[in-house]
Amino acid sequence: MPHTNSQKSKMNRRHFLKASLTGATLTTLITQPSYGFFDFNTVLEWAGIGGKGISNITGIKQPLAIPALLEKDANNKITLVAQKGETAFVKANALETWGYNGGHLGPTIRVKRGDTLNFDVSNQDIPEPISTHWHGLHVPGVDDGTGYQSIAMGTHWQPEINIVQQASTNWYHSHIHGRTSEHVYKGLVGMFIIEDDNSETLSLPKTYGVDDIPIMVQDKQFNPDGTLAPPQGGRFLGNTILVNGTLNPVLEVPQKQVRLRLLNGSNARYYNFRLSDKTSFSKIATEGGFLNAPVTMNAIPMSPGERDEIIIDFSRYEVGQTLNLISDDIEGDSGGLFDIIQFKVVADTIGDAPLPKVMNTVPNPNDFDALAWHSFALGNQAIRLDNGKASPFSMARNDLFVPINQYQKWTVSGGHHPFHVHGCSFLILSIGGKAPAPQDAGWKDTVAVEEGAEVEFILRFEHEATATARYMYHCHILGHEDQGMMGQFEVG
Ligand code: C2O
Ligand code: CU
Ligand code: CU
Repeated sequence: MPHTNSQKSKMNRRHFLKASLTGATLTTLITQPSYGFFDFNTVLEWAGIGGKGISNITGIKQPLAIPALLEKDANNKITLVAQKGETAFVKANALETWGYNGGHLGPTIRVKRGDTLNFDVSNQDIPEPISTHWHGLHVPGVDDGTGYQSIAMGTHWQPEINIVQQASTNWYHSHIHGRTSEHVYKGLVGMFIIEDDNSETLSLPKTYGVDDIPIMVQDKQFNPDGTLAPPQGGRFLGNTILVNGTLNPVLEVPQKQVRLRLLNGSNARYYNFRLSDKTSFSKIATEGGFLNAPVTMNAIPMSPGERDEIIIDFSRYEVGQTLNLISDDIEGDSGGLFDIIQFKVVADTIGDAPLPKVMNTVPNPNDFDALAWHSFALGNQAIRLDNGKASPFSMARNDLFVPINQYQKWTVSGGHHPFHVHGCSFLILSIGGKAPAPQDAGWKDTVAVEEGAEVEFILRFEHEATATARYMYHCHILGHEDQGMMGQFEVG
Protein backbone atom coordinates (compact mmCIF):
# COMPACT_ATOMS: atom_id res chain seq x y z
CA MET A 1 0.00 0.00 0.00
CA PRO A 2 1.50 3.36 -0.95
CA HIS A 3 2.16 5.81 1.83
CA THR A 4 2.47 9.35 0.62
CA ASN A 5 2.55 11.18 3.94
CA SER A 6 5.95 11.63 5.41
CA GLN A 7 6.59 9.62 8.55
CA LYS A 8 6.91 12.88 10.41
CA SER A 9 3.47 14.17 9.70
CA LYS A 10 1.99 10.81 10.53
CA MET A 11 3.72 10.92 13.85
CA ASN A 12 2.42 14.37 14.56
CA ARG A 13 -1.06 13.17 13.93
CA ARG A 14 -0.51 10.25 16.20
CA HIS A 15 0.88 12.46 18.94
CA PHE A 16 -2.17 14.61 18.67
CA LEU A 17 -4.50 11.64 18.91
CA LYS A 18 -2.96 10.07 21.94
CA ALA A 19 -2.91 13.30 23.85
CA SER A 20 -6.67 13.44 23.60
CA LEU A 21 -7.93 9.91 23.77
CA THR A 22 -10.99 10.75 25.79
CA GLY A 23 -14.70 10.68 25.24
CA ALA A 24 -14.79 14.37 24.49
CA THR A 25 -12.65 13.96 21.38
CA LEU A 26 -14.15 10.75 20.10
CA THR A 27 -15.32 12.42 16.93
CA THR A 28 -11.75 13.37 16.10
CA LEU A 29 -10.88 9.73 16.04
CA ILE A 30 -13.87 8.64 14.04
CA THR A 31 -13.08 11.06 11.23
CA GLN A 32 -9.62 9.58 10.72
CA PRO A 33 -9.83 7.83 7.37
CA SER A 34 -7.99 4.58 7.91
CA TYR A 35 -8.98 3.71 11.44
CA GLY A 36 -12.22 3.84 13.34
CA PHE A 37 -13.29 3.41 16.89
CA PHE A 38 -14.95 0.19 17.87
CA ASP A 39 -18.57 0.08 17.19
CA PHE A 40 -20.22 -0.82 20.47
CA ASN A 41 -22.09 -3.60 18.68
CA THR A 42 -18.87 -5.00 17.30
CA VAL A 43 -17.56 -5.17 20.80
CA LEU A 44 -20.64 -6.99 22.00
CA GLU A 45 -20.05 -9.60 19.33
CA TRP A 46 -16.51 -10.05 20.45
CA ALA A 47 -16.30 -13.45 22.09
CA GLY A 48 -13.97 -12.41 24.87
CA ILE A 49 -16.01 -9.65 26.36
CA GLY A 50 -17.34 -10.41 29.80
CA GLY A 51 -15.66 -13.78 29.74
CA LYS A 52 -12.48 -15.16 31.15
CA GLY A 53 -9.13 -15.13 29.38
CA ILE A 54 -7.84 -13.10 26.47
CA SER A 55 -9.55 -13.49 23.09
CA ASN A 56 -8.22 -12.08 19.86
CA ILE A 57 -10.24 -9.13 18.64
CA THR A 58 -11.21 -9.07 14.99
CA GLY A 59 -12.75 -5.58 14.94
CA ILE A 60 -11.29 -2.42 13.49
CA LYS A 61 -7.71 -1.68 14.53
CA GLN A 62 -6.90 1.56 16.29
CA PRO A 63 -3.62 3.46 15.93
CA LEU A 64 -1.38 2.83 18.92
CA ALA A 65 -1.35 5.78 21.29
CA ILE A 66 2.19 7.02 21.82
CA PRO A 67 2.38 8.84 25.16
CA ALA A 68 3.66 12.41 24.80
CA LEU A 69 7.30 12.95 25.75
CA LEU A 70 7.88 14.95 28.92
CA GLU A 71 11.34 16.44 29.36
CA LYS A 72 12.77 18.99 31.80
CA ASP A 73 12.10 22.63 31.10
CA ALA A 74 14.68 25.45 31.19
CA ASN A 75 14.58 25.34 35.01
CA ASN A 76 15.10 21.55 35.13
CA LYS A 77 11.50 21.20 36.20
CA ILE A 78 9.21 18.28 35.37
CA THR A 79 5.55 18.64 36.26
CA LEU A 80 3.11 15.77 36.71
CA VAL A 81 -0.52 16.38 37.59
CA ALA A 82 -2.46 13.30 38.64
CA GLN A 83 -6.09 13.63 37.67
CA LYS A 84 -9.36 11.92 37.00
CA GLY A 85 -10.45 11.47 33.42
CA GLU A 86 -12.89 9.70 31.18
CA THR A 87 -11.75 7.31 28.51
CA ALA A 88 -13.88 5.79 25.78
CA PHE A 89 -12.27 2.44 25.14
CA VAL A 90 -15.41 1.45 23.31
CA LYS A 91 -17.87 3.77 21.64
CA ALA A 92 -20.65 5.13 23.83
CA ASN A 93 -18.89 4.12 27.00
CA ALA A 94 -16.79 6.78 28.67
CA LEU A 95 -15.30 5.16 31.75
CA GLU A 96 -13.58 6.77 34.69
CA THR A 97 -9.83 6.47 34.40
CA TRP A 98 -6.93 8.23 36.08
CA GLY A 99 -3.81 9.67 34.56
CA TYR A 100 -0.94 12.10 34.82
CA ASN A 101 -1.23 15.27 32.72
CA GLY A 102 -4.26 13.69 31.06
CA GLY A 103 -7.19 11.45 31.73
CA HIS A 104 -5.51 8.06 31.34
CA LEU A 105 -1.93 6.91 31.88
CA GLY A 106 0.95 9.38 31.85
CA PRO A 107 3.53 10.93 29.53
CA THR A 108 6.88 9.27 28.89
CA ILE A 109 9.43 11.07 31.02
CA ARG A 110 12.82 11.25 29.32
CA VAL A 111 15.91 12.41 31.19
CA LYS A 112 19.66 12.08 30.92
CA ARG A 113 22.22 10.70 33.34
CA GLY A 114 23.71 13.61 35.25
CA ASP A 115 20.46 15.58 35.29
CA THR A 116 19.24 17.12 38.52
CA LEU A 117 15.49 17.43 38.22
CA ASN A 118 12.96 19.39 40.19
CA PHE A 119 9.82 17.35 40.11
CA ASP A 120 6.43 18.78 40.93
CA VAL A 121 3.93 15.97 41.31
CA SER A 122 0.46 16.97 42.39
CA ASN A 123 -2.89 15.32 42.93
CA GLN A 124 -5.47 17.53 41.30
CA ASP A 125 -8.77 15.78 42.01
CA ILE A 126 -8.28 12.14 42.96
CA PRO A 127 -10.12 11.88 46.27
CA GLU A 128 -7.61 9.66 48.05
CA PRO A 129 -3.84 9.74 48.62
CA ILE A 130 -1.78 8.57 45.66
CA SER A 131 1.97 8.43 45.19
CA THR A 132 4.44 8.34 42.34
CA HIS A 133 7.10 5.66 42.67
CA TRP A 134 9.98 5.73 40.21
CA HIS A 135 10.25 2.01 39.58
CA GLY A 136 13.86 1.21 38.66
CA LEU A 137 15.43 4.47 39.75
CA HIS A 138 18.40 4.56 42.08
CA VAL A 139 17.19 7.31 44.38
CA PRO A 140 17.21 7.68 48.19
CA GLY A 141 14.17 6.46 50.10
CA VAL A 142 12.96 10.00 50.58
CA ASP A 143 12.56 10.39 46.79
CA ASP A 144 11.23 6.87 46.14
CA GLY A 145 7.54 7.75 45.95
CA THR A 146 5.84 5.15 48.13
CA GLY A 147 3.28 5.66 50.89
CA TYR A 148 5.95 7.58 52.81
CA GLN A 149 5.59 10.30 50.17
CA SER A 150 1.86 10.10 49.60
CA ILE A 151 0.10 12.96 47.83
CA ALA A 152 -3.36 13.84 49.14
CA MET A 153 -5.86 15.54 46.87
CA GLY A 154 -4.90 19.16 46.31
CA THR A 155 -1.31 18.74 47.47
CA HIS A 156 2.12 18.60 45.82
CA TRP A 157 5.23 16.45 46.25
CA GLN A 158 8.42 18.09 45.06
CA PRO A 159 11.44 15.79 45.17
CA GLU A 160 14.76 16.84 43.68
CA ILE A 161 16.08 13.85 41.80
CA ASN A 162 19.62 13.18 40.62
CA ILE A 163 19.88 10.77 37.74
CA VAL A 164 22.98 8.77 38.59
CA GLN A 165 22.38 5.54 36.71
CA GLN A 166 22.95 4.31 33.17
CA ALA A 167 20.56 4.47 30.21
CA SER A 168 17.53 2.31 30.90
CA THR A 169 13.77 1.92 30.52
CA ASN A 170 12.01 2.48 33.81
CA TRP A 171 8.48 3.42 34.79
CA TYR A 172 6.48 5.26 37.39
CA HIS A 173 3.27 4.34 39.13
CA SER A 174 1.25 4.99 42.26
CA HIS A 175 2.33 2.88 45.24
CA ILE A 176 -0.02 3.15 48.22
CA HIS A 177 -0.24 -0.04 50.25
CA GLY A 178 -3.62 -1.70 49.76
CA ARG A 179 -4.47 0.58 46.81
CA THR A 180 -1.64 0.04 44.31
CA SER A 181 -3.56 -2.53 42.30
CA GLU A 182 -6.49 -0.20 41.68
CA HIS A 183 -4.33 2.90 41.17
CA VAL A 184 -2.27 1.21 38.45
CA TYR A 185 -5.35 -0.36 36.87
CA LYS A 186 -7.06 3.01 36.65
CA GLY A 187 -4.04 4.47 34.89
CA LEU A 188 -1.53 6.09 37.25
CA VAL A 189 1.30 4.67 35.17
CA GLY A 190 3.91 6.02 32.78
CA MET A 191 7.29 5.21 31.29
CA PHE A 192 10.55 6.78 32.48
CA ILE A 193 13.42 6.65 30.02
CA ILE A 194 16.98 7.45 31.01
CA GLU A 195 19.54 8.20 28.29
CA ASP A 196 23.27 8.64 28.68
CA ASP A 197 26.31 9.33 26.47
CA ASN A 198 26.51 5.63 25.61
CA SER A 199 22.87 5.28 24.56
CA GLU A 200 23.07 8.47 22.53
CA THR A 201 26.14 7.27 20.63
CA LEU A 202 25.25 3.62 20.03
CA SER A 203 23.92 2.75 16.60
CA LEU A 204 20.39 1.93 17.79
CA PRO A 205 16.95 3.20 16.78
CA LYS A 206 16.32 6.26 18.94
CA THR A 207 13.61 8.41 17.38
CA TYR A 208 10.85 8.33 19.97
CA GLY A 209 7.49 7.23 18.62
CA VAL A 210 8.93 6.45 15.19
CA ASP A 211 11.54 3.71 15.55
CA ASP A 212 11.86 3.76 19.35
CA ILE A 213 8.46 2.79 20.68
CA PRO A 214 7.09 2.48 24.21
CA ILE A 215 4.96 -0.68 24.49
CA MET A 216 3.12 -0.74 27.80
CA VAL A 217 1.07 -3.93 28.00
CA GLN A 218 -1.82 -4.21 30.44
CA ASP A 219 -4.84 -6.48 30.65
CA LYS A 220 -8.22 -5.19 31.79
CA GLN A 221 -11.49 -6.95 32.56
CA PHE A 222 -14.36 -5.62 30.47
CA ASN A 223 -17.93 -6.50 31.42
CA PRO A 224 -20.42 -7.57 28.73
CA ASP A 225 -21.88 -4.03 28.73
CA GLY A 226 -18.49 -2.50 27.91
CA THR A 227 -17.81 -1.20 31.42
CA LEU A 228 -14.60 -1.97 33.22
CA ALA A 229 -14.59 -4.37 36.18
CA PRO A 230 -12.30 -3.33 39.06
CA PRO A 231 -9.30 -5.53 39.85
CA GLN A 232 -10.14 -7.98 42.60
CA GLY A 233 -8.24 -10.59 44.55
CA GLY A 234 -4.58 -11.47 44.38
CA ARG A 235 -3.94 -12.80 40.91
CA PHE A 236 -6.33 -10.59 38.96
CA LEU A 237 -6.41 -11.36 35.24
CA GLY A 238 -8.31 -9.30 32.67
CA ASN A 239 -9.90 -10.43 29.41
CA THR A 240 -8.62 -7.62 27.17
CA ILE A 241 -5.16 -6.44 26.18
CA LEU A 242 -4.45 -2.73 26.04
CA VAL A 243 -1.17 -1.34 24.76
CA ASN A 244 -0.49 2.23 25.92
CA GLY A 245 -4.20 2.26 26.71
CA THR A 246 -5.17 1.38 23.13
CA LEU A 247 -7.60 -1.47 22.44
CA ASN A 248 -6.82 -3.64 19.39
CA PRO A 249 -3.80 -1.50 18.41
CA VAL A 250 -1.93 -1.21 15.13
CA LEU A 251 1.35 0.65 14.68
CA GLU A 252 2.92 1.75 11.41
CA VAL A 253 6.59 0.84 11.56
CA PRO A 254 9.33 1.95 9.15
CA GLN A 255 10.90 -0.76 6.99
CA LYS A 256 14.01 -0.94 9.17
CA GLN A 257 15.13 -1.98 12.64
CA VAL A 258 12.68 -0.79 15.26
CA ARG A 259 13.25 -0.73 18.98
CA LEU A 260 10.44 -1.68 21.35
CA ARG A 261 10.64 -0.73 25.00
CA LEU A 262 8.43 -3.43 26.48
CA LEU A 263 6.84 -2.90 29.87
CA ASN A 264 4.63 -5.46 31.51
CA GLY A 265 2.40 -3.05 33.43
CA SER A 266 -0.30 -5.63 34.06
CA ASN A 267 -1.69 -6.30 37.51
CA ALA A 268 -0.79 -9.99 37.47
CA ARG A 269 -0.53 -11.40 33.95
CA TYR A 270 2.69 -12.96 32.66
CA TYR A 271 3.46 -12.97 28.94
CA ASN A 272 5.77 -14.77 26.58
CA PHE A 273 6.03 -12.41 23.62
CA ARG A 274 6.73 -13.69 20.10
CA LEU A 275 6.25 -12.64 16.50
CA SER A 276 3.34 -14.17 14.64
CA ASP A 277 5.58 -15.40 11.78
CA LYS A 278 7.86 -17.16 14.29
CA THR A 279 10.90 -15.09 13.28
CA SER A 280 13.50 -13.93 15.76
CA PHE A 281 14.37 -10.54 17.19
CA SER A 282 17.20 -9.17 19.33
CA LYS A 283 17.01 -8.42 23.01
CA ILE A 284 19.22 -5.45 23.82
CA ALA A 285 18.35 -4.43 27.38
CA THR A 286 16.97 -5.61 30.69
CA GLU A 287 15.39 -3.30 33.30
CA GLY A 288 18.55 -1.52 34.42
CA GLY A 289 20.46 -1.06 31.17
CA PHE A 290 21.88 -2.57 28.01
CA LEU A 291 23.11 -6.13 27.79
CA ASN A 292 26.75 -6.47 26.78
CA ALA A 293 25.66 -7.57 23.30
CA PRO A 294 22.35 -8.13 21.51
CA VAL A 295 20.92 -11.63 22.04
CA THR A 296 18.86 -13.29 19.32
CA MET A 297 15.60 -14.70 20.67
CA ASN A 298 12.32 -16.18 19.44
CA ALA A 299 10.28 -15.51 22.55
CA ILE A 300 10.66 -13.23 25.52
CA PRO A 301 8.99 -14.02 28.85
CA MET A 302 7.96 -11.04 30.97
CA SER A 303 6.44 -11.00 34.44
CA PRO A 304 4.63 -7.96 35.89
CA GLY A 305 6.96 -5.02 36.50
CA GLU A 306 9.70 -6.19 34.13
CA ARG A 307 10.98 -4.14 31.19
CA ASP A 308 12.97 -5.40 28.25
CA GLU A 309 14.10 -3.70 25.08
CA ILE A 310 14.05 -5.58 21.80
CA ILE A 311 14.87 -4.78 18.18
CA ILE A 312 12.71 -6.16 15.39
CA ASP A 313 14.14 -6.00 11.90
CA PHE A 314 11.24 -4.88 9.71
CA SER A 315 13.49 -4.54 6.65
CA ARG A 316 12.71 -8.23 6.06
CA TYR A 317 9.15 -7.35 5.11
CA GLU A 318 7.49 -5.61 2.18
CA VAL A 319 5.89 -2.23 2.63
CA GLY A 320 2.23 -2.86 3.45
CA GLN A 321 2.86 -6.20 5.12
CA THR A 322 1.49 -6.79 8.62
CA LEU A 323 2.88 -8.80 11.48
CA ASN A 324 1.67 -9.31 15.05
CA LEU A 325 3.37 -9.32 18.38
CA ILE A 326 1.62 -12.16 20.16
CA SER A 327 1.91 -13.97 23.47
CA ASP A 328 1.68 -17.52 24.71
CA ASP A 329 -1.04 -18.20 27.25
CA ILE A 330 1.15 -18.40 30.34
CA GLU A 331 -1.75 -18.15 32.80
CA GLY A 332 -3.67 -20.99 31.14
CA ASP A 333 -6.89 -19.02 30.89
CA SER A 334 -6.89 -17.95 27.26
CA GLY A 335 -6.77 -21.16 25.25
CA GLY A 336 -3.63 -20.45 23.26
CA LEU A 337 -1.79 -17.59 21.60
CA PHE A 338 -3.29 -14.13 21.74
CA ASP A 339 -2.54 -10.82 20.01
CA ILE A 340 -0.79 -7.91 21.64
CA ILE A 341 -0.32 -5.45 18.77
CA GLN A 342 -0.22 -5.45 14.99
CA PHE A 343 2.61 -3.83 13.05
CA LYS A 344 2.13 -2.51 9.55
CA VAL A 345 5.31 -1.87 7.59
CA VAL A 346 5.64 1.53 5.87
CA ALA A 347 8.50 3.04 3.88
CA ASP A 348 11.56 4.01 5.90
CA THR A 349 12.47 7.68 5.90
CA ILE A 350 15.05 7.53 8.68
CA GLY A 351 17.75 5.19 7.42
CA ASP A 352 18.97 1.97 8.95
CA ALA A 353 22.25 0.91 10.51
CA PRO A 354 23.54 -2.43 11.73
CA LEU A 355 23.18 -3.20 15.44
CA PRO A 356 26.24 -2.59 17.60
CA LYS A 357 28.19 -5.69 18.64
CA VAL A 358 29.10 -4.27 22.04
CA MET A 359 26.65 -2.14 23.99
CA ASN A 360 27.71 -2.20 27.62
CA THR A 361 30.12 -3.55 30.21
CA VAL A 362 27.99 -5.43 32.67
CA PRO A 363 30.19 -6.82 35.46
CA ASN A 364 30.29 -10.50 36.29
CA PRO A 365 28.31 -10.84 39.55
CA ASN A 366 30.65 -13.60 40.71
CA ASP A 367 33.43 -11.02 40.96
CA PHE A 368 31.80 -9.38 43.98
CA ASP A 369 32.24 -10.69 47.50
CA ALA A 370 28.93 -10.58 49.29
CA LEU A 371 29.37 -9.66 52.95
CA ALA A 372 25.84 -10.60 53.96
CA TRP A 373 23.14 -12.96 52.79
CA HIS A 374 19.37 -12.83 53.09
CA SER A 375 16.60 -15.13 51.96
CA PHE A 376 13.06 -14.24 50.95
CA ALA A 377 10.29 -16.83 50.58
CA LEU A 378 7.19 -15.58 48.81
CA GLY A 379 3.83 -17.15 49.59
CA ASN A 380 0.65 -17.01 51.67
CA GLN A 381 0.20 -13.26 51.28
CA ALA A 382 3.52 -12.55 52.97
CA ILE A 383 7.27 -12.77 52.56
CA ARG A 384 9.29 -14.86 54.98
CA LEU A 385 12.64 -13.20 55.61
CA ASP A 386 15.67 -15.27 56.62
CA ASN A 387 13.52 -18.21 57.72
CA GLY A 388 11.82 -16.02 60.29
CA LYS A 389 8.14 -15.40 60.72
CA ALA A 390 6.09 -14.70 57.60
CA SER A 391 4.19 -11.56 58.48
CA PRO A 392 2.14 -9.58 56.01
CA PHE A 393 3.42 -6.08 55.29
CA SER A 394 3.08 -3.48 57.98
CA MET A 395 4.06 0.14 57.53
CA ALA A 396 4.83 0.21 61.26
CA ARG A 397 7.44 -2.56 61.17
CA ASN A 398 10.90 -2.40 59.64
CA ASP A 399 11.88 -5.83 58.34
CA LEU A 400 15.54 -5.44 57.51
CA PHE A 401 18.48 -3.11 57.91
CA VAL A 402 21.02 -3.01 55.09
CA PRO A 403 24.38 -1.23 55.43
CA ILE A 404 24.93 1.29 52.64
CA ASN A 405 27.47 0.38 49.90
CA GLN A 406 27.73 -3.25 51.02
CA TYR A 407 27.44 -6.09 48.49
CA GLN A 408 24.83 -8.59 49.57
CA LYS A 409 23.50 -11.83 48.18
CA TRP A 410 19.75 -12.26 48.21
CA THR A 411 18.03 -15.56 47.56
CA VAL A 412 14.37 -15.56 46.59
CA SER A 413 12.05 -18.56 46.43
CA GLY A 414 8.34 -19.05 45.82
CA GLY A 415 6.00 -20.04 43.04
CA HIS A 416 5.11 -17.76 40.12
CA HIS A 417 5.78 -14.42 41.81
CA PRO A 418 7.79 -11.53 40.32
CA PHE A 419 10.11 -10.17 43.02
CA HIS A 420 11.03 -6.48 42.92
CA VAL A 421 13.45 -4.43 45.01
CA HIS A 422 13.46 -0.66 45.33
CA GLY A 423 16.53 1.55 45.36
CA CYS A 424 19.02 -0.27 43.15
CA SER A 425 19.51 -2.78 40.35
CA PHE A 426 20.82 -6.30 40.85
CA LEU A 427 22.70 -8.92 38.86
CA ILE A 428 21.50 -12.52 38.80
CA LEU A 429 23.97 -15.12 40.10
CA SER A 430 21.77 -18.11 39.43
CA ILE A 431 18.26 -19.24 38.59
CA GLY A 432 17.39 -22.74 39.75
CA GLY A 433 21.08 -23.35 40.41
CA LYS A 434 22.17 -22.41 36.90
CA ALA A 435 24.02 -19.33 35.72
CA PRO A 436 21.69 -16.87 33.96
CA ALA A 437 21.28 -17.11 30.19
CA PRO A 438 22.96 -14.25 28.25
CA GLN A 439 19.59 -12.49 27.84
CA ASP A 440 19.17 -12.39 31.65
CA ALA A 441 22.75 -11.33 32.41
CA GLY A 442 21.94 -7.64 32.69
CA TRP A 443 20.98 -5.16 35.40
CA LYS A 444 17.52 -5.91 36.75
CA ASP A 445 15.15 -4.82 39.50
CA THR A 446 12.33 -7.33 39.00
CA VAL A 447 12.67 -11.06 38.41
CA ALA A 448 10.26 -13.94 37.93
CA VAL A 449 10.58 -16.55 40.66
CA GLU A 450 9.14 -19.95 39.83
CA GLU A 451 8.48 -22.98 42.03
CA GLY A 452 11.68 -24.98 42.44
CA ALA A 453 13.81 -22.34 40.70
CA GLU A 454 15.25 -20.18 43.40
CA VAL A 455 16.81 -16.94 42.17
CA GLU A 456 20.05 -15.65 43.66
CA PHE A 457 21.30 -12.18 42.94
CA ILE A 458 23.88 -9.69 44.09
CA LEU A 459 23.08 -6.09 44.93
CA ARG A 460 24.39 -3.02 46.65
CA PHE A 461 22.49 0.04 47.85
CA GLU A 462 24.25 3.34 47.29
CA HIS A 463 21.55 5.59 48.73
CA GLU A 464 20.03 5.92 52.14
CA ALA A 465 16.52 4.98 53.22
CA THR A 466 15.67 6.11 56.73
CA ALA A 467 12.90 5.07 59.14
CA THR A 468 10.67 7.79 57.74
CA ALA A 469 11.32 6.85 54.10
CA ARG A 470 11.99 3.13 53.82
CA TYR A 471 12.50 1.10 50.65
CA MET A 472 10.33 -1.89 49.82
CA TYR A 473 10.75 -5.34 48.36
CA HIS A 474 7.67 -7.13 47.17
CA CYS A 475 5.84 -9.35 44.74
CA HIS A 476 4.90 -7.23 41.71
CA ILE A 477 1.58 -9.01 41.29
CA LEU A 478 -0.25 -5.95 42.53
CA GLY A 479 -3.02 -7.85 44.30
CA HIS A 480 -0.36 -9.83 46.19
CA GLU A 481 1.52 -6.67 47.08
CA ASP A 482 -1.70 -5.11 48.39
CA GLN A 483 -2.50 -8.26 50.39
CA GLY A 484 0.84 -7.95 52.15
CA MET A 485 3.43 -9.84 50.07
CA MET A 486 5.85 -7.01 50.76
CA GLY A 487 8.48 -5.99 53.25
CA GLN A 488 10.38 -2.81 53.93
CA PHE A 489 13.95 -2.03 54.82
CA GLU A 490 16.26 0.74 55.85
CA VAL A 491 19.61 1.51 54.30
CA GLY A 492 22.24 3.57 56.10
CU1 C2O B 1 6.69 -1.07 40.55
CU2 C2O B 1 7.36 -1.22 44.56
O1 C2O B 1 6.97 -1.12 42.58
CU1 CU C 1 9.92 -0.12 42.48
CU1 CU D 1 2.87 -12.88 44.11
